[in-house]
Amino acid sequence: MKIFIDTADIDEITEAQQWGIVDGVTTNPSLIKKAVEKLKSAGDTIGMEAYIRKICKAVDGPVSLEVKGTTATELVKEAELLYNKFNHVNNNVVIKIPVNTAMKTGDEPFEGIKAIKALATRGIPVNTTLVMTATQALLAAKAGAAYVSPFLGRIDDYIRSRLGISHGKMDFFDSTITRLIEEEKRREKEGEVSSRYGEMAEVDYSDGGIYDGIELVESILKIYRAYDMKTKVIAASVRNAHQVRRVAEMGVDIATIPFAVIKEMVSHYKTEEGMRKFTEDVVEEYRQLFEDTGRQQ
Ligand code: E4P
Repeated sequence: MKIFIDTADIDEITEAQQWGIVDGVTTNPSLIKKAVEKLKSAGDTIGMEAYIRKICKAVDGPVSLEVKGTTATELVKEAELLYNKFNHVNNNVVIKIPVNTAMKTGDEPFEGIKAIKALATRGIPVNTTLVMTATQALLAAKAGAAYVSPFLGRIDDYIRSRLGISHGKMDFFDSTITRLIEEEKRREKEGEVSSRYGEMAEVDYSDGGIYDGIELVESILKIYRAYDMKTKVIAASVRNAHQVRRVAEMGVDIATIPFAVIKEMVSHYKTEEGMRKFTEDVVEEYRQLFEDTGRQQ
């Protein structure tokens, strides 16, 4: 599984790059905003273009940059602009296109898909963003996207808020909880109603049959594997190490992971405790062995 770092913060990118485990970078307008605010508060006056060039140079792997338009014409024009401006820096630019740019009912829903098709035809690699369903991922693959990014953390947020469960942004959540609550509600209904099916069918806490973000990734992988689709799946909106483990077990191609979660992946209380104990237990004779080695070199 490849690891992309989900940030536009050059300090985080540079540090994680030194760990030797980063295969790419994903940015979005919110991450760029956060990075710009950090730069401004530090009095750094580097311009946007120079800053993005720095990000492209920092990693020898795909760097996703997102467009801002909503119509297919705007998306394609902006994608070409970003690609022409930055791809020559390190030959690693991928353009993030929202799967559907509609912001309300009635807005045209296929502008993203049309843009993906046009860009794929021109040979510009697309990372399809804001993917919340497996059918969106299927359409993106059919349009020729190089990558799709299912937002598993945001699906968890959506399901939890419908259930009225309060949670912290980085909390782990899994489908068992939703299914248990749903089962309980069904049992309550069972006692009340005589014409059972219609009433029971109303008790559905899933998001179109998906009970958490992990299941969304699983469903997309199942479809892509069934049809041997070449589009790579990037597990995105990852909030904790537990989710990383679950998507890795499924054989997801890539996970894009925030800096703090990559750090969580390497940490464990017993590892720290073990380190303290091993360090304490180093006897003088053993310590001298390393000093001797040092002298020989
Ligand atoms: C990835 O492509 C997205 O930019 C990112 O994972 C979104 O994560 P969030 O839901 O934590 O904002």
